[in-house]
Amino acid sequence: CVLWRCVIKDYLCHLPVASLFQCNSPNFLISQQTDLNSFLWTIKRDPPSYFYGTIHVPYTRVWDFIPENSKQAFQESNIVYFELDLTDPYTISALTSCQLLPQGKNLQDVLPRDIYRRLKRHLEYVKLMMPSWMTPDQRGKGLYADYLFNAIAGNWERKRPVWVMLMVNSLTEADIKTRGVPVLDLYLAQEAERMKKRTGAVEKVEEQCHPLNGLNFSQVIFALNQTLLQQESLRAGSLQVPYTTEDLIRHYNCGDLNSIIFNHDTSQVPNFNNVTLPPSEQVTAQEIDSYFRQELIYKRNERMGKRVKALLEEHPDKSFFFAFGAG
Ligand SMILES: *[C@@H]1O[C@H](CO)[C@@H](O)[C@H](O)[C@H]1NC(C)=O
Ligand SMILES: *[C@@H]1O[C@H](CO)[C@@H](O)[C@H](O)[C@H]1NC(C)=O
Ligand SMILES: *[C@@H]1O[C@H](CO)[C@@H](O)[C@H](O)[C@H]1NC(C)=O
Repeated sequence: CVLWRCVIKDYLCHLPVASLFQCNSPNFLISQQTDLNSFLWTIKRDPPSYFYGTIHVPYTRVWDFIPENSKQAFQESNIVYFELDLTDPYTISALTSCQLLPQGKNLQDVLPRDIYRRLKRHLEYVKLMMPSWMTPDQRGKGLYADYLFNAIAGNWERKRPVWVMLMVNSLTEADIKTRGVPVLDLYLAQEAERMKKRTGAVEKVEEQCHPLNGLNFSQVIFALNQTLLQQESLRAGSLQVPYTTEDLIRHYNCGDLNSIIFNHDTSQVPNFNNVTLPPSEQVTAQEIDSYFRQELIYKRNERMGKRVKALLEEHPDKSFFFAFGAG
């Protein structure tokens, strides 16, 4: 490539997360955007098929930065495949029931008293703050704090601890502000439906859900405890959020695939590797991290790869667009 472009690309996208520079600022020229990486890969055959890396953030924050070639590939493809079929009501109900504790149990029965009490207190705090976290734009769309809280956390006492942990992670001010606009992967699914394309999914709900339920009890309690400690420090104002959706959006718009933040996004699981943890807890954090990496990234990649290959072989005359999480 032309040298100055490479230099610009490196300069723009390899800045530290805390940098003030915004690749997606209005001053950033669209002509420069075309010099950045895209998340589109072509599978060379006739007609071609594509892999596209999506992201789980409101599509309006990234759409203008997605290069034209990616949008064109989407338009021209006959069949669009996702990880899961998010427009199918079965997917949603299966995900919901997979997250529940066995019949007749609730969190109070399974969590240590201290954790349960802190969890309850934290959710009360979130419920109280939620109206002030919502934007005028969200209120304008008829999204109410009570409704949103119930939609996300209404049934919390019946959820498995690992799902409560993920839920607590998504109940921050920054994440609440992003609710109400479809995330990019869902938007693509809706667009595919609107354009009357054939759609499908390469994974079953259980394949995404069961690995998370497979973490053992002491690991889950550790993870939930760390998540609560983090939220409590945030509340006390003694901690800045380590990864924010804003960082994720900036890296995505910069085409920065290598960012560790994507691993973070892919597994949808927080990273507990905290250098200030005592050594024994660092071991647990490391074990959780390798478990998720193995189950949610490596094993899934292999399984999804096999299904992609089978689909391509079965339909040699069709153009596929596979839209999977970028990580
Ligand atoms: C959970 O798994 C870790 C790592 O495999 C192990 O060291 C620990 O003893 C297990 N705890 C329980 C309660 O099974
Ligand atoms: C939660 O973590 C803190 C700090 O690492 C630890 O002192 C405490 O014992 C943990 N609580 C539970 C219930 O595991
Ligand atoms: C790291 O762990 C310490 C002690 O458990 C906690 O006080 C601190 O908030 C944690 N930092 C992050 C970024 O999670």
